[in-house]
Amino acid sequence: MTAPTSPSAARPTPTILGVGAALPAQLITNAQLVARLDTSDEWIVRRTGIRERRHLEAAESLAALTATACAGALDDAGHQAAEVDHLIIATITPDRLTPGLAPAVAARLGAEHAGVVDINAACAGFLYGLDQAAALIESGRARHVLVCGAEALSRITDHEDRATAVLFGDGAGAVLVGPGAPGRGIGAFEFGYDDGLADTLYAERDVRRLQMAGQQVYRHAVARMTEAAQAVLARNGVSVADVDYFVAHQANARIVSAVADALGVPHAKVSFNVEWTANTSAASIPLALAAAERDGLLAPGSLVGMVAFGAGFVWAAGLASWKDTVTQQQRST
Ligand code: ACO
Repeated sequence: MTAPTSPSAARPTPTILGVGAALPAQLITNAQLVARLDTSDEWIVRRTGIRERRHLEAAESLAALTATACAGALDDAGHQAAEVDHLIIATITPDRLTPGLAPAVAARLGAEHAGVVDINAACAGFLYGLDQAAALIESGRARHVLVCGAEALSRITDHEDRATAVLFGDGAGAVLVGPGAPGRGIGAFEFGYDDGLADTLYAERDVRRLQMAGQQVYRHAVARMTEAAQAVLARNGVSVADVDYFVAHQANARIVSAVADALGVPHAKVSFNVEWTANTSAASIPLALAAAERDGLLAPGSLVGMVAFGAGFVWAAGLASWKDTVTQQQRST
């Protein structure tokens, strides 16, 4: 991957410095769903790859969960909350309609100098946040940006509808983005949308329940994520083989598998974290990154490919270097 062309040789090169994740304590297994819905563990696993999901309790706040994920990312990176210039949280399920999550999370962290904003691009939201963080750092407007995906989808799920109740979970994941070694960085992203298919996957303002035409969503998710991933590789001048780890939005394992196969990515390099989290919309990619880091699948300098697709339809794809803070000079000495 080549660094984007720069008007100034001294322009900082952003990288992901640390990652954190938080899942609610309340575990909902397939067996628990089978006990009250007309479904089976076999059906859920075969059609979705999902074995369990987490749900917030009614009295718990998504802000508290999100702050835990953000604190984890700061800790992993070895930075303090006071160093955070911006906190960007991608979510479609903030605790309240307004204010958003970001001010409450920043206050919990003690990120007293941070700009705070929520963004909504459904399941693609985290990648929009990552692109914006990279731009802030490259331009010199910020040095450290926390980017977070956080969802409480259990609060907008119809728990009596077997077609959707099995699919969604809650969780929060975060990365700290900051200056890294020159040369790699966070590459150019690809974005797209199709408003003509907005009625395929939506929740209304008043009837706050996710509605979905599953098979249509499936087809478009595979096609758009494959195209966007191919476009982002071409745009950054890298091949599939250059990507060390690949995270597609964790909607369901068959979608992830189909995209990886269309791209020619071996499954050993692909995240299937959906098995343990279900679909957590904007939180799915940072949760998958945290799981990959925990499992030793990422190393400093790894190149991570990411692609997401969700309601809108909106989609996004991007490439990011992982904890790439060591210069060539430091490497060779
Ligand atoms: N348990 C048992 N049977 C079920 C269940 C369930 N939980 N849900 C649906 N069925 C039944 C249906 O009623 C239907 O029965 P019928 O043949 O008697 O009418 C049968 O299973 C087949 O239903 P389909 O919807 O055709 O099943 P499909 O193979 O398409 O799988 C699924 C459904 C898993 C939702 C699939 O369409 C899919 O993965 N779609 C993508 C949707 C998705 O991931 N959405 C997440 C949000 S979007 C995003 O994040 C990108």
